[in-house]
Amino acid sequence: MSVKKLFISFIAISFSLFSAAQQYDFELNTKKVGAQIQSTMYGLFFEDINFGADGGLYAELVKNRSFDFPQPFMGWNTFGNVELKNDNPKFDRNPNYVVLTTAEHAHKHTGIENEGFVGIGFKKDADYRFSVWAKKINSNDVQKIRIEFINSANDIIGRRELSINSNDWEKYEIEIKANATEPKGKLRIFMTSKGALALEHVSLFPVDTYKGRKNGLRKDLVEALADIKPGIFRFPGGCIVEGTDLETRYNWKNSVGQVENRPLNENRWHYTFANRLFPDYFQSYGLGFYEYFLLSEDIGAEPLPVVNAGLACQYQNDGEHCHVPVGELQDYIQDALDLIEFANGATTTTWGKLRAEMGHPEPFNMKFIGIGNEQWGSLYPERLEKFVTAIRAKYPNIKIIGSSGPSADGKEFDYLWPEMKRLKVDLVDEHYYKDPDWFLRSAKRYDTYDRKGPAVFAGEYACHDHSTGKQNNFYSALCEAAFMTGLERNADIVHMCTYAPLFAHVDAWQWRPDMIWFDNLRMMKTPNYYVQQLYAHNVGTNVMPLTWNGKPIAGEDNLYASAVLDKNTNTYIVKVANTSQNEKTVNVNITGANRRTKFSVGECVTFQQDNLRAVNTLDEPNNLTPQKTNATLEGNTLKMNLKGQSFGVYKVKIN
Ligand code: AHR
Repeated sequence: MSVKKLFISFIAISFSLFSAAQQYDFELNTKKVGAQIQSTMYGLFFEDINFGADGGLYAELVKNRSFDFPQPFMGWNTFGNVELKNDNPKFDRNPNYVVLTTAEHAHKHTGIENEGFVGIGFKKDADYRFSVWAKKINSNDVQKIRIEFINSANDIIGRRELSINSNDWEKYEIEIKANATEPKGKLRIFMTSKGALALEHVSLFPVDTYKGRKNGLRKDLVEALADIKPGIFRFPGGCIVEGTDLETRYNWKNSVGQVENRPLNENRWHYTFANRLFPDYFQSYGLGFYEYFLLSEDIGAEPLPVVNAGLACQYQNDGEHCHVPVGELQDYIQDALDLIEFANGATTTTWGKLRAEMGHPEPFNMKFIGIGNEQWGSLYPERLEKFVTAIRAKYPNIKIIGSSGPSADGKEFDYLWPEMKRLKVDLVDEHYYKDPDWFLRSAKRYDTYDRKGPAVFAGEYACHDHSTGKQNNFYSALCEAAFMTGLERNADIVHMCTYAPLFAHVDAWQWRPDMIWFDNLRMMKTPNYYVQQLYAHNVGTNVMPLTWNGKPIAGEDNLYASAVLDKNTNTYIVKVANTSQNEKTVNVNITGANRRTKFSVGECVTFQQDNLRAVNTLDEPNNLTPQKTNATLEGNTLKMNLKGQSFGVYKVKIN
């Protein structure tokens, strides 16, 4: 070999030595099949925050469709002769309606215009279902209105005439096609006949809702939820369960039955939060408990409704005003019992009958109920106890979820956990919105939890990267992925977990980070979404012990890992997060297997980014997505190269 070649080989060897990834030998002992993982392990938490329901998931495009906001024309422009009325209403719980009277002068118009939720999104060639309750007033002649879709340049991008031919309230329904795309359009309705007419519950939905349902949900958003394959679906909140005051708590009974007669409720998040005030944020309850149960069924998740515990939002109330006296809780407890009847009762029962009338005679098979959201102090267990006694007496199989307060630790948390044990709830809901370091430090959080229960429901959590104004960036997702290895390793005691919040409208949000962002036409899955999806798609059936030097892998050398067995597909699934910048080689030695057992590498996926602050946006929704990757098997050793700042899911099939 020439001196030159020798020199080149020396450089190459030195380079490879210095750049060689560090190597780690993990052990997956197949003899120790661990605890069963609950099918509810990875799920979703939905709250009407950030215009997640009205203006978001609920596909209604008209804001204040019944003119029943406290300012009845909020969301509307009127022109010509428009009067607000509420005498002899069609819907007693939403009594307002408008009367339009033609102006004397033929060139003056009378009508109304709705601004939607930060505009109305129209898609070229899509059909929209317009409906309205209407009647002629004092006229033998047929009355006519024109319905127009208006773009931001004030051009008409869709229109149709509608004849109102009855003197009694009737529902009219027509489809209108949009001939152009417009993200922030308006709906205009004006009279084209001479006379007067009344309009109530003015509604516009895309025809193409999820499953084509009337009063339906936004298809792209539901599909994003279904694509997670969630095991549990918690609804309707969050703080909106509690309300700014008891008056405005989420009252599920107001959210069922005929949609036009579900009384409007103020949304707790209309209130200022992070200096953002949304005076026009109300709940139409069009997306109500029936729709939530149906949605759970559609996306294959167990429904987990939460009811008010007789306590309004404790953040917004101190002391006296926020609670119902313990002796006067009966209505609240009855609401919880009736909810179970609504979901599961025979069609001969009062509430089961309503469910059937609404279109679902089969029971929803509800198994869980949450009592209260983030409650704290003795006020909570004093009340919860009454609910527990009543529910256990009537529905002993329903699993009850209590709260450990608004924080992951501290005085309230330390007080409430023993209280939850005393009351023997089945699961305790824990919430943590913490910084990246907390998530990385807490991967061992559940290793030392009392195995006797109650079980844990990590009901709201998200990594808040304050250095970026709490963006949904890759770093926050990576920290969550690392932390979740600890949830998975402890699946014997952690039975459910749900990221929070779920949705946010880019032009109308109160809180971030959020899992899915949308505008009136588009939506974007965050890196946090993909982490949840990777876990939910690879939930497995049993925890498997995965160790390094005999210990769980929970942060040493910036590695976090867990493993499961999926008995349904005969696959071991290893999840590993590498939060360092350096590439690492991990060998997973699969021990304890019978000599005749043969393994092969299954599909492997990695989620990696050099730029920790990288995000997805509505314009670049696929900037960050998990990618297929390779791993090799040498004998019974799975070999993987983990790039710096990556989270990977690796599968080994048992052949
Ligand atoms: O997810 C947003 C809010 O955070 C929820 O309403 C509440 O439970 C928590 O404080």
